[in-house]
Amino acid sequence: MKLIGLTGGIASGKSTVARMFAELGCPVIDADRIAREVVEPGTPALAEISRRWPNFIKGDGTLDRAALGREVFADASSRAELDSIVFPRILERTLERSNELDRAGETVALFDAALIVEKSLDAGLQGLIVVTVPEATQLARLVSRDHLANEDARARIASQLAIAEKLKRARWVIDNSGTLEETRRQVERIWAEIEPSS
Ligand SMILES: Nc1ncnc2c1ncn2[C@@H]1O[C@H](COP(=O)(O)OP(=O)(O)OP(=O)(O)O)[C@@H](O)[C@H]1O
Ligand SMILES: [Mg+2]
Repeated sequence: MKLIGLTGGIASGKSTVARMFAELGCPVIDADRIAREVVEPGTPALAEISRRWPNFIKGDGTLDRAALGREVFADASSRAELDSIVFPRILERTLERSNELDRAGETVALFDAALIVEKSLDAGLQGLIVVTVPEATQLARLVSRDHLANEDARARIASQLAIAEKLKRARWVIDNSGTLEETRRQVERIWAEIEPSS
């Protein structure tokens, strides 16, 4: 089975594009969803996190992801620490999902993840799709989706690897600055190339 990466900056439209591929019949492995699953109550990752950051466990035993996110966003060394707890589990789960899809007879799947290039995961993939939008569009969509202050949205964008670095690794580029219909047409073209039999 071919596993194709899908990446891009925050709020560039990865989930939107992933949904379009899913509508065409392409199975999608969603890294954000896996990142939530690996810290659910009862997981080894949550146990480690609660030893290190006990204040971020809510009354019902779940992780306060937003508060922990703010904490580590402000401090690179705690971010690295959190990454070292969570990241191996995300990878493990991703490989499990990929093997399940393969066993189920799928010939291609999409791995939707923001940090593919940062974490050099593209080496293990059979191609990378990068979604791109001008920074002004990215900022406007991020502010409107997450109700962030302009300044906070800017800080989030600035904390990521420059899109130019991601584009260097891209086999396919999707320009998501236009209408959803324009994006869908690009998705259909790429899908025809990845999965010509469909
Ligand atoms: N072509 C488009 N036209 C208008 N709005 C769009 C378009 N594509 C995406 N959006 C909107 O922009 C916002 C960001 O899109 P989306 O959530 O797909 O990005 P993402 O890359 O998955 O973000 P994240 O990095 O947070 O996972 C959403 O509110 C989405 O509905
Ligand atoms: Mg997303």
